[in-house]
Amino acid sequence: MLGLLVAVSAVACYAGAVSITNVTVPDRSAAAGWVYLRYSPDPTWVNRIEFRCEYTISPASANPPTITWLKGPFTDRQVIYKWSSSGEVYVHPEFAGRVSVESRTRPTLVLTDAKYDDWGRYWCRVTNEDQSDEFGTDEESLLFYYKSTVYDYDVPARGGQYSFVEVDKTPVRVKAGGTARLNCEGSGGPLASIVWFKGPSCTQDGKCNVYEMVINKTAVPQPHPILGPGTVNVSPKYAGRASLDFNDGGYYNYYYPDLTITDIRPTDVGRYWCTDDAPLWYQNDLRSRDSQSVVVLLDDEAPTPSCDGKADGMYQDPGDCSRYYSCSGGWLYGPAPCLTGLFFNEALQVCDWPNNVACA
Ligand SMILES: *[C@@H]1O[C@H](CO)[C@@H](O)[C@H](O)[C@H]1NC(C)=O
Ligand SMILES: *[C@@H]1O[C@H](CO)[C@@H](O)[C@H](O)[C@H]1NC(C)=O
Repeated sequence: MLGLLVAVSAVACYAGAVSITNVTVPDRSAAAGWVYLRYSPDPTWVNRIEFRCEYTISPASANPPTITWLKGPFTDRQVIYKWSSSGEVYVHPEFAGRVSVESRTRPTLVLTDAKYDDWGRYWCRVTNEDQSDEFGTDEESLLFYYKSTVYDYDVPARGGQYSFVEVDKTPVRVKAGGTARLNCEGSGGPLASIVWFKGPSCTQDGKCNVYEMVINKTAVPQPHPILGPGTVNVSPKYAGRASLDFNDGGYYNYYYPDLTITDIRPTDVGRYWCTDDAPLWYQNDLRSRDSQSVVVLLDDEAPTPSCDGKADGMYQDPGDCSRYYSCSGGWLYGPAPCLTGLFFNEALQVCDWPNNVACA
């Protein structure tokens, strides 16, 4: 009975914790991804709009992050504003004198003197330069619609459809060999074009803008059920391991293109982007790919000692070679530490010099 009461300490041995950047554009939830600016003939009207953006970097980095605002569909975008970690600011000539960012901690983009042609998708990207890989870079988008007249009928149609995804951004922790399930809600129904990317990674010239295709599903050209949901393509690296679900959300236009990856390997860790584009029959100028991301981490918590199926005897703690535990009649006792500097030797059933002991 005693064995039950002995606490089995799962010793976590994290190998250099990664710092994860997490970007949120709060207005997405309020208006399904839209920010509007409506012209008003009122003389007090001010042509100014804010694209709100917030982020967390945890654990925090020593240097300030780089703030980048981009415009266009994922991944084909143009930088319109960049505030580098070094302090340097770049503004695209089309936006010269019209855009600014409030502060490094609240990187809200302020657009003044907005023009009709400014409509489109805007991305807030935050890059932790101390971790400038896929863990340290995140972004989210907002759609901007500048209505240049008070009368609706003066505005050329921009279609009633647009791309929209929501990803559950809680980091997914998986043990090696386990299964990762990445949840995504997308617009466009089963007829939309879906791509899951991984990245970004950097090229030799230092541009961190390379996204690797994991799995995709082609768009279906007409709203016709006979055509089915389209063709699924899987990258060779994920062949036999990645699959897309097409759970119908119960609404015609919404569904859940969740990604499942089995037999997780160390090279699978990183950031995954669920992207979607509206079905092809919506021939309008708002077809622009949206995206959100979630991070997959290898769960490197120490494996837990267990007496399941083990003969009576003493065993090395699988999470810590300097500790051992005993099994007796299926009960587990310990783990207990060896004397300082010694590792447990299962073959000899004693604590031994590290040179004599295999330690993973
Ligand atoms: C990012 O923020 C979302 C929403 O606040 C939260 O659910 C998620 O866990 C966060 N992810 C990380 C990596 O901090
Ligand atoms: C989908 O995958 C196929 C096969 O890898 C590729 O040729 C195609 O360009 C991909 N389409 C998209 C939209 O990513």
